[in-house]
Amino acid sequence: MSDRRDAMLARAILHADAPAVAPEDWWRGAVFYQIYLRSFRDGNGDGIGDLKGVAEKLDYLADLGIDGIWLAPFYASPQVDFGYDVSDMRAVDPSMGTIEDLKAVIEGAHDRGIRVLADFVPCHTSDQHEWFQQSRSGRDAPHADWYVWADRSEDGTPPNNWLSSFGGPAWTWEPRRSQYYYHPFLTCQPALNLRNEDALCAVLDAMAFWRDVGIDGFRLDAVQCLCWDETLRSNPPRGEPFDDVAIGGGPNNPFAAQSHLFDRDVPHGLRIIERMRRELTEGHPEFALIGELADVDSSRLAVKYTAGRERLHAVYDFDLIQKSDPVARLIETLRVRSDHVGSGWYYNVLTNHDTQRAVSQLTGFAEDAGRREEAAKLLLFLQATLRGGAIVFQGEELGLPQPEVAREDMHDPWAINLYPDFVGRDGVRMPFPWDAGADHAGFTDGDDPWMPVAEAHRPLAVSAQAEEEGSVLSFFKALLRWRREHGFLRLADETIAEGEDGPVLAFTRAGDGEEMTFLANLGLAPQVHSAPRGAKLEAVPGSAARAKEEGIALPPLGFAAVRLG
Ligand code: BGC
Repeated sequence: MSDRRDAMLARAILHADAPAVAPEDWWRGAVFYQIYLRSFRDGNGDGIGDLKGVAEKLDYLADLGIDGIWLAPFYASPQVDFGYDVSDMRAVDPSMGTIEDLKAVIEGAHDRGIRVLADFVPCHTSDQHEWFQQSRSGRDAPHADWYVWADRSEDGTPPNNWLSSFGGPAWTWEPRRSQYYYHPFLTCQPALNLRNEDALCAVLDAMAFWRDVGIDGFRLDAVQCLCWDETLRSNPPRGEPFDDVAIGGGPNNPFAAQSHLFDRDVPHGLRIIERMRRELTEGHPEFALIGELADVDSSRLAVKYTAGRERLHAVYDFDLIQKSDPVARLIETLRVRSDHVGSGWYYNVLTNHDTQRAVSQLTGFAEDAGRREEAAKLLLFLQATLRGGAIVFQGEELGLPQPEVAREDMHDPWAINLYPDFVGRDGVRMPFPWDAGADHAGFTDGDDPWMPVAEAHRPLAVSAQAEEEGSVLSFFKALLRWRREHGFLRLADETIAEGEDGPVLAFTRAGDGEEMTFLANLGLAPQVHSAPRGAKLEAVPGSAARAKEEGIALPPLGFAAVRLG
């Protein structure tokens, strides 16, 4: 496997347009494609997307021009939280395939110059995991201290006020131990006690196991939950309006009413991350750790988690996603990020398997006005040109809108808990449309997909867009080609223009002796953006901007790349 990886790397270096990217920094400024396995392509006809399905579609992925893929958790799991509830950290779940299928994906991806990230869940397991089964059975049982156990309060209630981000208390009573156990997410996802050296070593061993199978890095789930306050202090109230949907699903969830001082982003978590970095990259300098940082102010915290070379390589967060007053908040967030990140690193993420599709959420106003396709291109343009890398969720390259989900088709336990107040995660997880004319839009050759394909997605299938020059899909491929040709964009610094709070977002990227300014009109009216005399438009794919005497004319939802000097 490592010879293959070296060969792939040599090719990548040969074709790199950005001479400044050192081999161990391959992930910097990379464009990843997130694969939600259950919904991508079913390779064995059982109605559930799987690893064989990914192997079938590797040519499609290579043709997109991405640098890497992120595979959703494929580990053994009762699938209550669809793989984020792991019952064996070293086994592939039969519904996803086998370890041989995984190796085939890795080899096929590497042959095509694509890196592979695996999702890994270090903070909790399923309650079906043998470790937890033993731990819950008694205070002297094996693995007794591998989870977070606490006595009840004097009045019998849980030890403190911590809540689950999925709704309800974060503590569940276990009569066999006469104690509560802690679970920041679902009741069936008990938190591991990673202050316990044996538990931490077991997790590190499992991580090393998959690294040695040949993956290039991990997307680490929920790193804000790696640790918790040892004295179990209650969280104070948040004390400010909480309309931030990135925090635990939004205001309909009381979780958002607390300031999560003692159950999220607890300092010892950084020590655990440092240990992971040390142990996993020793002798493997190219192995990358990208941590999901949610439920906290990630834009300000990213630097703490990623600066230097001792902690995470990069942060993956929700800060650009799903805000009320999306355009103004997006611009504000980008400014905060740019001001705080310093030498840290993050990715630009607008949609993932936990959110609504961005084209309907962030630019819902454009979708309502019948301009979904232009909005989809604009969002992809931003992801590809803003500082950081991009993680594009499957279907964003097709401009898929958020579909309606009937109550009987809902599977997401979080949504079911909070139904009908929280729309949940099922819509974004509906099967990927490959072929507009095929049964189940080509997602499965079987009769019974685990989720129906959204009818609204069928006409937007790959088959309908692949040969069409102006389609979102063709645009995306051309955009990534263009990005590669302008290799300085991978690492270039960023300055977000001050004083112009929408609808035109302007930012400048500078590095390697080059400089380019980007303009994005996030509104439905045409705009003219002032530009110095001599400003020159770059031929960025899909841009209909014009240089005029008064400045750069941008159509509704239009974008441009400009050289000012
Ligand atoms: C994942 C979710 C999952 C949760 C609990 C996350 O942040 O992205 O899909 O439900 O962690 O593991």
